Amino acid sequence: MADYRIPGEWMKENMVLSNDIDDETINKLGSFQMKEGDVLVTAYPKTGITWIQELVWLVYYKGDIAKAHSVPLTERCTYLEYKPSGVPSGLDLLEKESTPHIMKTHMKSEIFKKQIESRKVRVIVVIRNPKDTLVSLYHFYRMTANLGYFKGTWDDFFEIYKAKHLIYGDYFDWYSSWLPQCKDNFNVKLVKYEDMQRSMPDVINDLCLFLDKSLSEKQINDIMKHLSFDSMSRNGAVNCKNIPYFDFTVSSFLRKGIIGDWKNYFTREQSALVDKPYNDVIVSMGVKLEFE
Ligand code: A3P
Repeated sequence: MADYRIPGEWMKENMVLSNDIDDETINKLGSFQMKEGDVLVTAYPKTGITWIQELVWLVYYKGDIAKAHSVPLTERCTYLEYKPSGVPSGLDLLEKESTPHIMKTHMKSEIFKKQIESRKVRVIVVIRNPKDTLVSLYHFYRMTANLGYFKGTWDDFFEIYKAKHLIYGDYFDWYSSWLPQCKDNFNVKLVKYEDMQRSMPDVINDLCLFLDKSLSEKQINDIMKHLSFDSMSRNGAVNCKNIPYFDFTVSSFLRKGIIGDWKNYFTREQSALVDKPYNDVIVSMGVKLEFE
């Protein structure tokens, strides 16, 4: 089998990965001053971070649907470790922005220790069942230039998962880092992708409480319509259609948006290989996820 460990030259040059992040960026990420009211949304890739960023932004900005259609989400929420060559990095942009900052990261928790303990920033950790996450990530690898438009099969991709060579590292290592933070800190909240699917009104009400915001019933209804899979798929400000390094003939960024697609991909053996760390790492931390 081909060696897929290095996820493309572009990725190496332009992205900070948890495995090879340089000291300067670590220091910068860990030491910049987060302010009262700032929000950090963090997730393992493909667990629905785009969906929750859009929701958090709308909660903050009183359901300003018009702006959510006209200004790209990438401009409304700063992707902290993103640093395309030749333009300012997410962190550089942030320093110039007015507060509150709504920020996104895929980094593990350790480098944000000081900010979390300052209690100023509120952190939202997103989780989705690992099997649907891996299937979604497989299609993301296939459509993304930085990942070499991955040409392997699902089984090849699963080998990369087993070797713990996926971008941002292993799903279970990632949540081993963040789940204890959710338990130990009142300013760190866990949100499940599957809850957004099943009971969005409850998720919105919970987030309003967590972020000290209030919305009218009409605003909540409008936000829910705006956040539906169909509506977000059509919204050019969030569907990533403007991003040149995605090949939309291979997949969409908002691809299926369902629970349980993993059943179309996983063999019984592959499923068992995920069940074990799921029980050891996720369930043992008191978190249960829905798989269908
Ligand atoms: P699928 O590939 O399973 O469709 P991220 O934003 O972290 O990259 O996650 C992308 C995943 O979230 C994709 O999963 C995408 O379809 C799903 N998603 C994004 N917006 C959604 C929405 N409004 N409703 C349901 N799923 C959504």
